[in-house]
Amino acid sequence: MSQEEASLEARLEEQAEFDPPESFVEQANVTDPGIYEEFEENWPDCWERAANLLSWDEAYDTVLEDDDAPFYEWFTGGELNASYNCLDRHVEEGAKNRAAIKWEGELGETRTYTYGELLNEVEAFAATLRELGVEEDDIVTLYMPMVPELPIAMLACARIGAPHSVVFAGFSADALATRMNSADSEYLVTCDGYYRRGDALDHLSKATEGLESVEHEVEEVVVVDRLGEALEHSLADGHHDYDELVAEHEGASVDPVSRDAEDMLFLMYTSGTTGKPKGVKHTTGGYLAYTAWTSHAVLDVKPEDTYWCSADIGWITGHSYIVYGPLALGTTTVMYEGTPDYPEKDRLWEIVETNRVDVFYTAPTAIRAFMKWGSQYPDRHDLSSLRLLGTVGEPINPRAWKWYYQHIGGEECPIVDTWWQTETGGMMITTLPGINTMKPGSAGPPLPGIDARVADVNGEEVDPGEAGYVTINNPWPGMLRTLYNNDERFISEYWEEYSDEEADEWVYFPEDGAKLDEDGYVTILGRVDDVINVSGHRLGTMEIESAVVGVEGIAEAAVVGGEHDVKGEAVYVYAIPEDGYEDQEAELEEQAEQAILDSIGPIAKPEQVLFTHELPKTRSGKIMRRLLEDIASGNELGNTSTLRNPEVVDEIAEQVESD
Ligand code: PRX
Repeated sequence: MSQEEASLEARLEEQAEFDPPESFVEQANVTDPGIYEEFEENWPDCWERAANLLSWDEAYDTVLEDDDAPFYEWFTGGELNASYNCLDRHVEEGAKNRAAIKWEGELGETRTYTYGELLNEVEAFAATLRELGVEEDDIVTLYMPMVPELPIAMLACARIGAPHSVVFAGFSADALATRMNSADSEYLVTCDGYYRRGDALDHLSKATEGLESVEHEVEEVVVVDRLGEALEHSLADGHHDYDELVAEHEGASVDPVSRDAEDMLFLMYTSGTTGKPKGVKHTTGGYLAYTAWTSHAVLDVKPEDTYWCSADIGWITGHSYIVYGPLALGTTTVMYEGTPDYPEKDRLWEIVETNRVDVFYTAPTAIRAFMKWGSQYPDRHDLSSLRLLGTVGEPINPRAWKWYYQHIGGEECPIVDTWWQTETGGMMITTLPGINTMKPGSAGPPLPGIDARVADVNGEEVDPGEAGYVTINNPWPGMLRTLYNNDERFISEYWEEYSDEEADEWVYFPEDGAKLDEDGYVTILGRVDDVINVSGHRLGTMEIESAVVGVEGIAEAAVVGGEHDVKGEAVYVYAIPEDGYEDQEAELEEQAEQAILDSIGPIAKPEQVLFTHELPKTRSGKIMRRLLEDIASGNELGNTSTLRNPEVVDEIAEQVESD
């Protein structure tokens, strides 16, 4: 590092607050600080501002219907189509030749779809789906990597009123089957494979294997050919080739179906406290209005921008901020297929430079990796097109924030640290980049109209500086409506903790811990349930545990998250071998890892699998997970006197250190 750089870094290290640069404020979409008061005074009608970003086929009568809380309804009586809002209306307004999607494959090939071309392709695939028998309200599963056909399939489903359920391509065959079974989904669109670090990965075999475990009849399967000759595959009987079907329907015209604002747009499965993933239901009106509004207000997206969110569409971030929000605003959204370090560690910066990206949105895990690789990689590129940076998915430590600010933003771009969840549909707590001062490490105040608080166990707001739990005390348009086919679990997971049912006062509990400062800024401390966050990906420890205890020879297991300097958290498995298996630990470890790969996928791969003859337990026999977390993170161990078997704690800690 040069002397100049070192002194700059030292200066930044001391700085606790950053104001948005004047040049940004001058052009920002939202700049009036009065917006907070305006939304509060005019709640819930303030949300018309979000609804007005959309084109409605039928105007809504009521902004918020709360008669059956917490089964809230937004923009009731309104009708619209999400695909029309993301495509046709921009074409009608003259933007047919503007780029909608700019896609880059890992090997360097590129594809651009203008709004006109994207609409054509979406119509052709919508016609295909109809011909295959997909009807309104049928759930179509999309098990696809980052290829343009994924957003095309999503929008084609939306066009004909068939909700989609996207399953992340990195998930295993079993995970696909679990989700198709849960959603009773009879249609699957998948892909032959994709590239990772230059290798062609076979995806179709996983999809085919998953189909074998689907309990109901699967009507139709469509396969996108991404790899061409790099992977020869023969389609199974009855499976269709995407390109052939789309070619047959080229030029088709498919009218967008008017959907009720409350009709399901999609299902997205996410991890919870039990072993079974939850099917989060999002609706057409509220979700689309909310993602469009937050893309406008927080990401400052403008139609003439080139905007890039580097998430995978298989997660909610990609749904809301690669596909629906940006396309609803008519901007150009970038998609990249591969990893950030292929062929070299400057790949993302090369994409920013060549596409002249204006707004870039990524995860803290990625930023920590960039930091580790060094600033020579971004330094090779002209990143001056960037105007705004964002992060999402996990807490960002001030050091990583400052590195991002300095080396990617050149100290000229505000950073929005956006806190939200699969269930919230869109951003909830973050600064507005044209208004608020930024404090690295703290997400910021709740967005206008969002009544997020930090409360103690009794629901009383904590004093500044104290830690508590995030609660959300008012509904918002992007909220999940229910868990698919499981209203009971919807109530028990999110509402029971803090609501007063008799008084009809409903408080949403996101299961995150947080601290508040004297300016009302929220610092997120992490999950307080059995969910862990590995590289910004949400995993249920119970799902991993149930895979591990399925291994013959493993009697009991506890899975916890331990701190990790790049991934944020990593998976640690503590297991007890059954009698007679004690000398087979190496085999058991391998089998445990394989079981995790089979039931979830490589993202859940454990950092360490450790065998012990006992797990630390309370006198009532409950595993003390907190202690195991401390052991995994190398923290000082707390009080062990309430344990039935305190001696085992030191034994395990020694093993962790020596492993
Ligand atoms: O713990 C919070 C963390 O990610 C969880 C939600 O995960 P998921 O539903 O997969 O959605 C991730 C993308 C929105 C939250 O409960 N989280 C998300 N954003 C932040 C965060 N933690 C700290 N800071 C954030 N900005």
